[in-house]
Order: sequence, then C-alpha cells, then structure tokens
Amino acid sequence: MARNGRYAHIVGWGMYVPAHRRTNDEIAAMVDTSDEWIATRTGIKERRIAAEHESTATMALRAGEAALEIASLAPEALDLIIVASATPDYLFPASACIVQDKLGADHAGAFDLSAACSGFVYGLSLAAQAIETGAIDTALVIGSETLSRFVDWKDRKTCILFGDGAGAVVLAGRNQRGGVLSSTLRSDGSGGELLLVPAGGSRHPASLETLANNQHTIKMLGREVFRFATRAMADAARVVVEKAGLTFDEVALVIPHQANSRIIETATRMLRLPEEKVYMNVERYGNTSSASIPIALCEAVEEGRVQPGDNLVLVGFGAGLTWAAAAVQWAVPWPVVPQPPQQRVLWRARRVFARLRSGWRRVGRRIWGALRWLQGKRGQPSAEE
Ligand code: ACO
Repeated sequence: MARNGRYAHIVGWGMYVPAHRRTNDEIAAMVDTSDEWIATRTGIKERRIAAEHESTATMALRAGEAALEIASLAPEALDLIIVASATPDYLFPASACIVQDKLGADHAGAFDLSAACSGFVYGLSLAAQAIETGAIDTALVIGSETLSRFVDWKDRKTCILFGDGAGAVVLAGRNQRGGVLSSTLRSDGSGGELLLVPAGGSRHPASLETLANNQHTIKMLGREVFRFATRAMADAARVVVEKAGLTFDEVALVIPHQANSRIIETATRMLRLPEEKVYMNVERYGNTSSASIPIALCEAVEEGRVQPGDNLVLVGFGAGLTWAAAAVQWAVPWPVVPQPPQQRVLWRARRVFARLRSGWRRVGRRIWGALRWLQGKRGQPSAEE
C-alpha cells in the first residue's frame, strides 16, 4: 500500500481494562441464564466493567500512554489521534480531543471515528494512508469502549456479550517495507437495524418517552449478526492477504474482532486455517467492540506470539453494518528493551505536567472570560444614561 516508499509501522502498543471482573455466574444472578449457556454459545467467561470514574476517554488515555511509552515517542511528536468508539464520552467534543489534551499532544489533530467493532481497523487504515502520502508522520490509533453503560442488564440476549476496555497502537513512517501492507473497508447500511441503540441521536433525542421505552440500550438480532459476521470476517481477511501479495501460509497470526468464539471458529474453518493461527481472548473480556482487536494484539505480542517479520491479519465486523481488515508486517522485537528508571520518571513527570497545563488552561479561560464580562459591564451605559 506504500506510496513514495513510505510505510506506516506499528512502533508502540498498549491496553487498559478496568479492574472489576463480572463473571457469567454474576450475570446468571441478574437474568435467566447460566455460565454453561454463555460459555458454550459465546466462549465468554467474564468481562470487565468500568468503575464510575472511568469512561471511554479515560481508558483510551491509559492505553494511549502505554503505547507511547513503548514507542518512546513524546506526545508532542504526534500528528494525529483517532479514537474509534461506539460509546464516546459525549456526542461532542470528541473523546480523542480529551485524550489529546490530557496527553499534552499539542501538535496533533484529533477526532472520533464511528464504525462500531470495525472502528479500530478503519482508524488504522486511514492513519496508515495519511502516513504513506507524507501528510503526517506519526499517529495514535485507539479503540475504546464503555459498553456496560449501554447494555440492557435485563436482556439476557445481549447483556452476556459486552465488556469495557481500550487498546492502542502508535504508527510511525519508516522507509523500510513493513507495517500496514494492505487494508479493506466495507459497509452495508441496509443491515443497520440488526444492531443499534435506537435513541439518543438526532433521530430520537433523549426524552421521557425514549427512556420509558428503554431505547437507549443495545438492541440486536443475534442470529442475523452471526451469519453476517462469519462471512464478512472470512471475505475481508482473504481480500487483504491477496492485496498484500501474500498467501495464508505466509500469515503468522489472524487477530479477529472478539465477538463470539463460535463466529471466530466458523470463520477459521471457512478460511481453512489451523486454530493456532487465530488469536482468541474473548473468554476474558467478552466483546469490547472497537477495543477488542488492539487488546488482543497487545496480549498476543506479550505472549510472544508475534515476532519481527511476522505477517498479521487484523479483521473486524460490527454495527453499521461495517467490516474491515488490514494485513500488517510486524517489526518490533519483544520483549522491548526496558526503559532506564530515569526515563520512566521523565514519562511520569510529563504526564503530570500535561494534566497541570490542561488545568491551567481551563482556569485561564475562565478568568479571561470573567475579565471580559466585567469589562463589558463597565463599558455598558446604565438605564438612566
Ligand atoms: N441464556 C439462556 N438462554 C438464552 C440466552 C441466554 N443468555 N440468550 C438467548 N437465549 C435463548 C433464547 O431465548 C432462545 O430461546 P427460545 O428458542 O426458547 O426462544 C434460545 O436461547 C436461542 O436464542 P438465539 O438468539 O437464537 O441463540 P443463538 O444460538 O443465536 O445465540 C447469540 C445467541 C450468542 C447472541 C448469538 O446469536 C451470537 O453470538 N450472535 C452474534 C452476536 C454478536 O457477536 N454481536 C456482536 C457483533 S458486532 C459487534 O460486536 C457490535
């Protein structure tokens, strides 16, 4: 995919998951289900649930900081931050801007990307293309989700599936071949109703009626999504492998969106891949939507399943409907040489400074606003004049 001999390499990665684990047994105490049903139909054993003080942006920040630290890249050197999320903190501002501010990434553009579970691969592909054209040199691509806040905890068909977390990668331009070799982005909006949160947007803004009708939580037609997902995953993986000029024999690991072990196993059979070539951690985190692929990538790297020179296929599918894949050649050895202690102290100090600066800017803006208001008051003619 490279142009001008420029390739977008993954040079850093990081993940964050909330501490609280919610097991199948805990869910079975809330709705009519069982650990056995959930585990056999989905492969999920537990998922993480965000604490009250956590949100999509706070988790994205933690994953992004970890990725920058591995890349040894200062936040000021970032050109672009993309946060892929179906559960952003606000309609606006973008969660990516909150991350930009807290990181102190003063030279970076920042935006959110809404492509549900395919969002991370969409973001990776767009950032890689921007690097290859020479428009930018570095990017932080994050997938982050707080799905637990949009799950109907009384609906056993959906509440068993989803979890919270974030994963991130740092992309940097290099002249040697590697990094993102090819990608494909696809969509089929005719399947929009298969998986949606009906209210809260401009079509059905929040109202007493939407609340009473429970329209702010995830609705899904599971069987139809299942059928779409297996086909989409296999097709997209084939496309990027071919586009990259590879065969599946040359692919070391496929890292799919972690929605359901049965979807992954069916697609694995369709692609005639041995099981060990397909990464799975759905049992620990459930479906974390746009965060699932970068979380799985981080764990695969840390387990030593990804080595320099390996070709990987990342493949996602989800609401929209959307699906996407990317073929990536890995370049960074693992374990990464640990940073000297003074470097770690410097990173910590940098974080504290970025947070302080953000606070000063907010306070400064308020003081400035108050001064302008006072000035305006003084300049205004009184009613008697
Ligand atoms: N516990 C016990 N029984 C259940 C549960 C549950 N948690 N959920 C459904 N059932 C029952 C149903 O009520 C139904 O009973 P009935 O036949 O008496 O009516 C029966 O089990 C079968 O229901 P199905 O919905 O047909 O079950 P299925 O085998 O399809 O499994 C599942 C449901 C796990 C949701 C499956 O369809 C699936 O995984 N679909 C894909 C979902 C997915 O991955 N979505 C996300 C992808 S995109 C994204 O990530 C945003």
